[in-house]
Amino acid sequence: MKEIKNVNYGLEKIFKGAKDFLPLLGTDYIEFYVGNAKQAAYYYKSAFGFQSYAYKGLETGSREVTSYVLKQDKIRIVLTTPLSSKSSINNHIVKHGDGVKVIALWVDDATRSWQETTKRGAKSYMQPTVEKDEFGFVVRSGIHTYGDTVHVFVERKNYDGVFLPGFIKWESDYNPESTGLKYIDHMVGNVGWNEMNKWVKFYEDVMGFVNFLSFDDKQITTEYSALMSKVMSNGNGRIKFPINEPAEGKKKSQIEEYLDFYEGPGAQHIAVATDDIINTVAMLRSRGVEFLSIPPEEYYSAVPLRLEKHNHKLNEDIDTLKKLGILIDADEEGYLLQIFTKPVEDRPTLFFEIIQRMGARGFGAGNFKALFEAIEREQLKRGTL
Ligand code: FE2
Repeated sequence: MKEIKNVNYGLEKIFKGAKDFLPLLGTDYIEFYVGNAKQAAYYYKSAFGFQSYAYKGLETGSREVTSYVLKQDKIRIVLTTPLSSKSSINNHIVKHGDGVKVIALWVDDATRSWQETTKRGAKSYMQPTVEKDEFGFVVRSGIHTYGDTVHVFVERKNYDGVFLPGFIKWESDYNPESTGLKYIDHMVGNVGWNEMNKWVKFYEDVMGFVNFLSFDDKQITTEYSALMSKVMSNGNGRIKFPINEPAEGKKKSQIEEYLDFYEGPGAQHIAVATDDIINTVAMLRSRGVEFLSIPPEEYYSAVPLRLEKHNHKLNEDIDTLKKLGILIDADEEGYLLQIFTKPVEDRPTLFFEIIQRMGARGFGAGNFKALFEAIEREQLKRGTL
């Protein structure tokens, strides 16, 4: 297995970085615009083990949209569907299919976050807005990022309610067990040809992020559907946004397939962390989550050598990892275990990654070959290779 060597950790820049003008406390929520939020909520509860959390709709006085909020440990997802053809949300759904609209970031001061980013060139999506109810108030603001995707800054230090003003607690008699998903490790955006560096610059200049890791198309070998990727991180390392761009290869880039079907740039995958990937993946599989095909025998026979090279010892049973199709990658600092779902929409667009970090801070570059081969097998079936 050929490993990608030339990995550029920009950590010293992160730690010695200039004053952080956009301090981020974490991911607040991810909002999807979907065709039928009620049914999507059932899928995320049943398949992924999310819990019922909050709701707004006709019963709460929301005449235009229904939103279901689901939670699992620190992860909150919001599923929103418009209630009439007049809503502008329909344009998003018609163009992109179900997909991520909002990547919301938890901040201490949403007004200042908006001022600092818009004065550095961000296009405003939402001016600082105060929303109130009997539990206090929340301030939200927002800016546009790639495609039709936006970042909303959420200031909730003066709020005690369940989610946001306008939402009520969602009580349900149907509460499938959690699958052990804990928090969002990273979230990846796909952008168009020659646009990666533009968006890298956007995250650097407008949001104060740094380029933490880079992979170019020579590293991501041309035998396989090619891409380039740069990982952007905020100052405290809590938020990581890799940005992918397609590259010319012998076959059609998986990123180009995404751009064709999403009809533009957008969120490609959400990586969620677990402390026990074996248990998490076994549960997800038993509940019908579909994963990319299991790599061949040679992949797993090469794993002990890959770990030894960095003097790491695998705590998990390799036969169990193999049976579940979990991938293993190692770097100087440790190893990581990861697996990728098939797209969770009808269009081959958004998918999930499940990741367990055992010291490694990378993104599984050593698995790109096995991963791309599995994606290509799916592209072949879809007639998009
Ligand atoms: Fe990832």
